[in-house]
Amino acid sequence: MNIGILGLGTVGGGVVNVLNKNKNEIYRRSGVNIKVTYAAVRDINQARICPTGNLKLTQDPFAIVNNTDIDIVLELMGGTGLAKELVEAAIANGKHVITANKALIATHGNELLSLAKDNNVHLLFEAAVAGGIPILKSLEQGLSANKIEMVAGIINGTGNFILTEMRDKGRDFSDVLKEAQALGYAESDPTFDVEGIDAAHKLAILASIAFGCELQFDKVSTEGISKIEGEDVAFATELGYSIKHLGIAKQIDGKTQMRVHPTLIPKTHLLANVDGVMNAVLIKGNAVGPTLYYGAGAGDEATASAVIADLVDIIKDTVSDDILGWQSFETMPHQAEDDIESIFYLRLLATDKPGVLADITSIFAEHNISVEAVIQKKIDAQNNAHIAIITNSVKTVEMNTAVNEIQKNDFIQETVKIIHVETLD
Ligand code: NAP
Ligand code: HSE
Repeated sequence: MNIGILGLGTVGGGVVNVLNKNKNEIYRRSGVNIKVTYAAVRDINQARICPTGNLKLTQDPFAIVNNTDIDIVLELMGGTGLAKELVEAAIANGKHVITANKALIATHGNELLSLAKDNNVHLLFEAAVAGGIPILKSLEQGLSANKIEMVAGIINGTGNFILTEMRDKGRDFSDVLKEAQALGYAESDPTFDVEGIDAAHKLAILASIAFGCELQFDKVSTEGISKIEGEDVAFATELGYSIKHLGIAKQIDGKTQMRVHPTLIPKTHLLANVDGVMNAVLIKGNAVGPTLYYGAGAGDEATASAVIADLVDIIKDTVSDDILGWQSFETMPHQAEDDIESIFYLRLLATDKPGVLADITSIFAEHNISVEAVIQKKIDAQNNAHIAIITNSVKTVEMNTAVNEIQKNDFIQETVKIIHVETLD
């Protein structure tokens, strides 16, 4: 399969890098060797985040959409003018198109999807909504049995990053925005992020897929984050709320509502704890109830993950033997439980006498275990100390051996309790 990319910036560069680094996994899942052959850029001499040695670079994007060797076009340029012309030309030339361009799909998706249907090609856009989260595939596949009642989410990474940095570090709005731009999160016109337009594009797409209706970007009521001040954040916190910028779409009595605005949500809600560039989308289906999807909302490789998932879908649907991925499972060695490294929590009941903690820690030292935290409480009538210990990350075999040795001491009054600690990084 020959792939032509329009745009080799944050997302385009990320796609090339992820295709290289996960070549074997992607082959196993698609059954096809994917080759990116051409890429169109504005400035051929600009430094790239990906290797370009195997690519033919051109400043003429039409040379890609009109090239008969190219099977699939990835539109990763952005904008709604030239990008639209290019997507139309690619589709008219019988090529499948994948785009990350929410502005294009939200404003011209109805006509482009109908053009793709007429030309019997795919037009996919998973990366257009919530970066790396496979939210459109979840709606179309995993939740296909449901009538969707509500979609509500944090769907702009830049805005959430700004709000989080302002709240946690008291940073200045424009300073954080500059950092989001440097990290490749922001749109080429960052007012799209700040004024809620980008979130409105995404919400229009989400609502269309969730409710099975046409794209209606012009019906989304839109407010950005620029009016939120430190005082609002402080009051909201005192009242038990977090301020998050949400996109909300509901279907009530056969009518659709779509709105994007800053929203106070209870601090205890999972969405209130989605920080930085992370996005999360809550979907309520009438069979499954509420479900929540969380992940990076912007950035090169996270967005590339969604673009390549579309690529694999198209390949599986069009050229590969669908079964191949399942036939090519490898036998992988299994890690023995003893070798698994973990942090551990231990709870001990020990006679309260001098030297007990020293004896425990010297056993730890023999097994290269360090103590990260310890709490000791002497609370019972039998002169027993209740001790809780958090260790560093150690091999399970070392922990079990050390605990067996500790257990043999007379000062230990009951079986030592061990629980794994996971930082889930
Ligand atoms: P970007 O870093 O600015 O990259 C845009 C690329 O398009 C650049 O390589 C640029 O070439 C090329 N380009 C622009 N105009 C061109 C023209 N007329 N002819 C040829 N090449 C042209 O943008 P991005 O962040 O990757 O975003 C691309 C798209 O993905 C946008 O639709 C955006 O909304 C969407 N998206 C972005 C993210 C993210 O995290 N960044 C996430 C999801 C979706 P030069 O490099 O030579 O200037
Ligand atoms: N500018 C967008 C954001 C990129 O910050 O969420 C991902 O769509």
